[in-house]
Amino acid sequence: MVRAEDATDHDEIASVVSGAFGSPNEAQLVAAIRASSNYVPSWSLVATVDHRVVGHVMVSYVILRDGASEHCVPCLSPLSVEPDHQARGIGSALVHAAAAVVDAAGEPLIVLEGSPWYYSRFGFEYAVPLGITIKLPDWAPAEAAQVLRLSRYDPAIRGELVYPQAFDVVTD
Ligand SMILES: CC(C)(COP(=O)(O)OP(=O)(O)OC[C@H]1O[C@@H](n2cnc3c(N)ncnc32)[C@H](O)[C@@H]1OP(=O)(O)O)[C@@H](O)C(=O)NCCC(=O)NCCS
Repeated sequence: MVRAEDATDHDEIASVVSGAFGSPNEAQLVAAIRASSNYVPSWSLVATVDHRVVGHVMVSYVILRDGASEHCVPCLSPLSVEPDHQARGIGSALVHAAAAVVDAAGEPLIVLEGSPWYYSRFGFEYAVPLGITIKLPDWAPAEAAQVLRLSRYDPAIRGELVYPQAFDVVTD
């Protein structure tokens, strides 16, 4: 089952996120986004099995800076499935559900930095041809910068992704 997170899930989510990434940083990222104005409660989803949280996805706002203009757009990060429950379609269910709620909210697109091999199956595509750039770590392929065009996609929404301060824990 996939549903929006609530306050009683926070500890379980922290343990799923740190278990998935093998590091406390992404769980700190989740907490920092939640404490920020970029957090959208209905875009932070959990997957449960027998009422236990086994997966989590967060979509929150980031900025695309395009010269003098700025667009506030949804960004999917992080996505986590507890190691014991991976490869059973839970990550896919979370991405599909997140894309559906963000689309229903009338947003034009979702940006993310992640494996093109994984996310292309959901319709994410290389962001640069759409005028959206992300400064990536040296080890990441250029195609890790990705965009999912939603029903209200508008090609005028472009620019360089500026991560809010909450992301410092994973980008520094
Ligand atoms: C990536 C992740 C969320 C996928 O969740 P999941 O529930 O295992 O995913 P699904 O069952 O829906 O899909 C499994 C597929 O994802 C692939 N996959 C798993 N981890 C992957 C990764 N880091 N990069 C690319 N592909 C990955 C599997 O090989 C499998 O491929 P297949 O369907 O072609 O066999 C999960 O493995 C995870 O939490 N990983 C650690 C955290 C992480 O790297 N998150 C960011 C992803 S870029």
